[in-house]
Amino acid sequence: MSITILGIETSCDETGIAVVRDGELLADVTATSMDEYARYGGIIPEIASRAHLQTMVPTLDAALDKAGVTLGEIDAVAVTAGPGLIGSLTVGVSAAKALALALDKPLYGINHIIGHLCVDELVDGPFPDHFIGLVVSGGHSSILRVGNIATDVEELGGTLDDAAGEAFDKVGRLLGLPYPGGPHIDRLSKEGDREAIRFPRGLTAGKDKVRHAYDFSFSGLKTAVARYVEGLESRGEEVPTADVAAGFSEAINDVLTMKALNACETFGYDTLVVGGGFSANSRLRELAAERAAERGITVRIPPIRYCTDNGAMVASLGWELVRNGVEPSGLGITVDTGMDLNKIVMTAV
Ligand code: KG4
Ligand code: ZN
Repeated sequence: MSITILGIETSCDETGIAVVRDGELLADVTATSMDEYARYGGIIPEIASRAHLQTMVPTLDAALDKAGVTLGEIDAVAVTAGPGLIGSLTVGVSAAKALALALDKPLYGINHIIGHLCVDELVDGPFPDHFIGLVVSGGHSSILRVGNIATDVEELGGTLDDAAGEAFDKVGRLLGLPYPGGPHIDRLSKEGDREAIRFPRGLTAGKDKVRHAYDFSFSGLKTAVARYVEGLESRGEEVPTADVAAGFSEAINDVLTMKALNACETFGYDTLVVGGGFSANSRLRELAAERAAERGITVRIPPIRYCTDNGAMVASLGWELVRNGVEPSGLGITVDTGMDLNKIVMTAV
């Protein structure tokens, strides 16, 4: 019997709606309010929530149209229940509840971060029995151990302060680059010498190396970059922005790839799956591929459009939950801005 899942994503600034049928992506449509934030230098949650309200129905119509599927053919509705911005999440979950109720179909409130990994299955095929997941975005930098993605996910570690994308955005601001700084630093760093300035690698030495084997800390690095730039400016010297971007990018990607691949080796897993908006970073892709090859590990990273927030990641995890017979969330669920990464699907209280 064929199963068709509708996936709805609204955790941040993207309204993403997708249709997955039997593990195959039929449509994935995204609307974003990102263009509105350049002048503020950051996302304004209230604007994002209102944008979701405006784009929800047109995006849904476009996705169904593209998939050639009617609402009556949907077997289950999956929606991001957390983590994310409270207003944004609420719009998506409310829409999903309304659809599930009207269609009399099960509702699954899924974990956005686990969705970032699950989308790779739509692109690169079925997952192995177990793998290590690295999810890096504007809000998260986490290492997860994954068995069956519908039932067995464990958070091994994460950032103690800034997420990788967040650190890039903050350093972007420091270097006078437009918001969001991540892609700009990525581009600039290709013109710089990554060995010219060595910035600190947090939680990689001494006791921290053991106690925080899978944790990250990027705020010290961000401060080191700020001090370096301020020092040059106070002496009236020119800031070598490309070298700063390259050195900073290297410090972050060195730690991300090293810790994720260490996790693969410790658990004896031969696959690393990378997801989240920051996995668009070119140096992360390069370094992960290089280092994984040296250790005989396979790296799976979906194409960039599936790394940023989208509906396909939600529909993909929804499909896994349905086919593994996981109990639906029910209409009583709320949203959870800080949803625990060990929790794959939300349960009603
Ligand atoms: O997953 P995502 O779309 O939204 C969140 O859930 O946070 O990730 C967005 C983050 C932003 O911080 C952005 O600057 C960063 O990903 N990003 C990049 C690149 N492309 C996007 N960071 C570094 N290099 C890139 N090429
Ligand atoms: Zn995300």
